Amino acid sequence: MTDNQGVRLQKVLADAGIGSRRHCEQLIGEGRVTVNGEKVFRFGERVDPERDVIHVDGRRVETRSEMRYYAVNKPRGVVSTMSDDKGRKSLADFVDVPERLFHVGRLDTDTEGLILLTNDGELAHRLMHPSYGVPKTYLAEIHGPIPRDLGRRLRAGVTLEDGFAKADRFRVYDQVGRRVLVEITLHEGRKHIVRRMLKHVGFPVQQLARIQFGPIKLGQLRPGTVRALNVVEIGELYKAVGL
Ligand code: URA
Repeated sequence: MTDNQGVRLQKVLADAGIGSRRHCEQLIGEGRVTVNGEKVFRFGERVDPERDVIHVDGRRVETRSEMRYYAVNKPRGVVSTMSDDKGRKSLADFVDVPERLFHVGRLDTDTEGLILLTNDGELAHRLMHPSYGVPKTYLAEIHGPIPRDLGRRLRAGVTLEDGFAKADRFRVYDQVGRRVLVEITLHEGRKHIVRRMLKHVGFPVQQLARIQFGPIKLGQLRPGTVRALNVVEIGELYKAVGL
């Protein structure tokens, strides 16, 4: 990009939410910013925010003005689509944004929790593709008591009707009487996978919620509400799928 075209790098970084322009100048001066893979030290550098690929500390900064990234907490009873021709409640009933978005994967209608929405096709494709193995974490309510070796069995893997499935992590999250909440992390997305795995080991799921997708946490987001991801979260999503 020639000297008088484009936008100054520190402004692009500040506009993307990295921090004040002064802070962004500091990052540039410290050699922490790359543009199209090249380290930039000059404050006056101009870039094209729609085309140039910018990283800070190795994390991609989304600078394209049209790109949107949201997290929604899908309530139970809502289908995981942006519209439903049978008139059932869908994600569009909760997400009131002007852009045409797609959902990154699905949850069962009776599962609640985190679904990412974006118009960034390449990112969405990679997040869903099994080859990137993006981990997803769920809280499942089951009836206890549970045996001590349940986690070990799930981490070792079980053979379901469509093949082998294993948990990456498993822990008891909470226990009140016979109601046991377990946290389970897997990096695959076959249909009803958590329900099928837990049923297979003798503990059918009573309630299920997804609380994390890759680096993005559901946090305090209430069911039926949506929030825009911040620049750090977007950078972490890119990183999770090698972009
Ligand atoms: N596993 C399930 O069983 N259901 C979901 O909705 C997601 C993962």
